Amino acid sequence: MARMGSIVCIILILSTTLCECNNNICDRRPLGTKTEPLPPDNRFKIDIVGINDDQYIPQRQYTVRLYSTDSTSTFIAFTIAAREDTKPNEKNPRKPILLDAGSIRVSPEFPSKPSPNCKNSVIQSDITPKTFVEAIWLAPPKDNKCVTIYAVLAVKEDVWYNFEGPLSKRVCEDRRNAEDMQPAVNDDCRVCEDARYMVMFDGIWSYNTHPYMFPESRSLARFSDVVGASHSNRYSVYQFNSDASAGLQMLAEQGNTTELEIAIQSQLGSSVRTIIKAASQPQPNMATVATFRVTKVHHLVSLVTAILPSPDWFLGVSNMELCDAITNRWAPNLTLNLYPLDAGTDSGLTFEAPNEETMPPQPISSAPINKDIPKEQMRPFAKLKFELIRTYQTPDCSTESPVDLNLEDSKDDDKDTNEYVAPTTQEAEEVTISIAPGSSPDCPITEWEEWLPCEGECENNRLKGFQSRFRYHIVDGVPVGKYVENGPKMEDKEISPYCLENYPDSETQECEESCDEEEETVAQRRIW
Ligand SMILES: *[C@@H]1O[C@H](CO)[C@@H](O)[C@H](O)[C@H]1NC(C)=O
Ligand SMILES: *[C@@H]1O[C@H](CO)[C@@H](O)[C@H](O)[C@H]1NC(C)=O
Repeated sequence: MARMGSIVCIILILSTTLCECNNNICDRRPLGTKTEPLPPDNRFKIDIVGINDDQYIPQRQYTVRLYSTDSTSTFIAFTIAAREDTKPNEKNPRKPILLDAGSIRVSPEFPSKPSPNCKNSVIQSDITPKTFVEAIWLAPPKDNKCVTIYAVLAVKEDVWYNFEGPLSKRVCEDRRNAEDMQPAVNDDCRVCEDARYMVMFDGIWSYNTHPYMFPESRSLARFSDVVGASHSNRYSVYQFNSDASAGLQMLAEQGNTTELEIAIQSQLGSSVRTIIKAASQPQPNMATVATFRVTKVHHLVSLVTAILPSPDWFLGVSNMELCDAITNRWAPNLTLNLYPLDAGTDSGLTFEAPNEETMPPQPISSAPINKDIPKEQMRPFAKLKFELIRTYQTPDCSTESPVDLNLEDSKDDDKDTNEYVAPTTQEAEEVTISIAPGSSPDCPITEWEEWLPCEGECENNRLKGFQSRFRYHIVDGVPVGKYVENGPKMEDKEISPYCLENYPDSETQECEESCDEEEETVAQRRIW
């Protein structure tokens, strides 16, 4: 049960109470320093690659990057960790329920390892000076609100930064429908083959589906030709929140694609691989298709089409990623819902409004078609469906399969960690577990552990508060559940909902004991 003891210890520390097993305290100060941290400045920063609007997509894998902003300052030790939000506990308002922060894992390409004492943390595996490290963050499932990803780091022994300012990043769940979200951009596309995709622009705009978002002269409603390109990250057809180009303005206002096509054509052979054009259909609820080619460099696709008639409204996608950021392979198929955008060049508010030039032009935004319809209830006007048709070997491709290529940067003796599996999973299996006598054969579970110390505020040397205790569901002989430190991931070993419901793995009770106000203050200063 020694291992369980340390599990308890960590849970205990997380809830900022004193821990008796000092050698296992989760202290995130680098190298066990006892000095005060430097005040926050901008020398070092933490970023989550692919998140620029502070929203994460549940269960998506992200790269967390800790780096020196001047590329020359170095650090020798670090911790990268994730902290969860809480939600109010109806049964016990004083003990909010901890949500899930997802999991922080070692990136096989950087000298790092899971923290031995802290949950969800990665630390250095050597103290050579570095300017930049990465870790993997697997975002939690839906309904876990916000997560703070943070770092502490030591520039040298006893000179360190705490998680404040640029070393902390709070991101919240993106609650949109999956088909409303573009895949994460892959800054490091490492496919070696070229590929050909088919794109279907599937119009789903009709008076029946959008009675409050349809022109009065119904027979005029249609989409223009769909135009765009496959391209590199050095080019964009448009960007949300930026001004429309002259070509896009002409397309959005008149449905005339000529000028935009000329602009795209001028980049052909450098940042553009294929110019894409799919013919306009007579009805706005019909589909049109085109094919295009992508390469390791030209792995993004952008497409636009005008909504007709309209002041300057259009549908489009900018920089859709086809080189999957997790697998580094071509995405087999992707679907994206399209909603009306406003090019910001005409101020008309209805489909048939007369021309009314916006001066000065406004950045591209969502179209103000019907303000009475809340955004969540808005139906898409079209779906874009991308399908991988075939791939082409290129001179870049060696005889190795693409999977092997992805691993080329990692050491051979590290093969087992290449799948981003936290290497500590094995430790959990060493835990001595004993099933509680009398536990149901359908839901094997350990006995309750000791009650944790009472938590609460110390007033007049009396502490009145709450305490918890835990037990663990056992699946395939290993303890499983959100309280098991370094345990198998929940997705690998599922506890049946029946067992979760009928055999809770934690419980909380009121408690009261004497306390020492001095000690309490010390405990609260501890870094979590
Ligand atoms: C589109 O605009 C170009 C000029 O930029 C013009 O020559 C062409 O006739 C227009 N096409 C249509 C269909 O109006
Ligand atoms: C995408 O491809 C996968 C695998 O080929 C297939 O199982 C899935 O049904 C496809 N989805 C769509 C929307 O076509």
